[in-house]
Amino acid sequence: MTAAYIHGSTDDREVARLDKQARWCAPWVLARFDAAPGMRVLDLATGVGSMATELLARWPGIVLSGVDLSATQLAKARRHHAALPLVRANGTTLPFPDDTFDRVHGSWFLEHVPADVAVQALREVRRTLKPGGYAHFTEVDNSTFRTEPRLPKVHAALDELNAGQQRAGGDPFIGPKLAGYLAAAGFGRIDARENPMTGDANDLVFFRGFIDEFAEIFEGLDEALGAPLTAAATELRGLIDLPGARIEYRSTIAQAHK
Ligand SMILES: C[S@@+](CC[C@H](N)C(=O)[O-])C[C@H]1O[C@@H](n2cnc3c(N)ncnc32)[C@H](O)[C@@H]1O
Repeated sequence: MTAAYIHGSTDDREVARLDKQARWCAPWVLARFDAAPGMRVLDLATGVGSMATELLARWPGIVLSGVDLSATQLAKARRHHAALPLVRANGTTLPFPDDTFDRVHGSWFLEHVPADVAVQALREVRRTLKPGGYAHFTEVDNSTFRTEPRLPKVHAALDELNAGQQRAGGDPFIGPKLAGYLAAAGFGRIDARENPMTGDANDLVFFRGFIDEFAEIFEGLDEALGAPLTAAATELRGLIDLPGARIEYRSTIAQAHK
């Protein structure tokens, strides 16, 4: 099966999925983020602006800008954020002077680019941060995904998705490398932490939400990767009814001060 895998679709269903995903992720993605009114914050690779919405909801007084390489993504972001400066640019050459931002936020961005592009983008983040400001990046590590019992269609679909992402130049296992990339970009004070998540019968609401997020990713990629991802989503949705079932995943969340 060939796959030009990129999270990049911007139809209404996918935009709704991304908004829902951001609402679900924001409590843990942004747990260590802080900002004060008036601070200049950049949402790098803002996509359709889903995490920008979460940033503004939590810190309404911030002066938020967004950057993305994709004009299509930015067009969707503008639907929700008409008043924000949303700039089309490559993260490797940010169109801002040195020392512009108090915070640079990035979520699920660096997984989509090769390592040298990721490091160059982080150099630009460091350049455009004010002294004392920090970068806050969240990234995936798809090698940590587990279900109990093991679900063969789900794991095969994830392998497929990972291979497609690698063929497109990205890295679905980037999380543990994030601290090294930040160091290579010149950051000195780096605090990178794994964020382990477990869903099981102890918290059925969280368990169901966790399953939904991954099932919806599989369903959203159906067009790019073919029918088996729909079967995987169905298999995953059935997990909640199996005795002793659990699901695990770890992301990495890194803060780096200039
Ligand atoms: C999965 S989306 C993440 C969107 C958003 N941060 C979120 O959490 O919903 C990845 C985004 O990275 C953007 N992107 C990829 N390469 C880029 C680059 N070199 N410079 C800027 N944006 C880039 C894509 O256009 C896409 O919108």
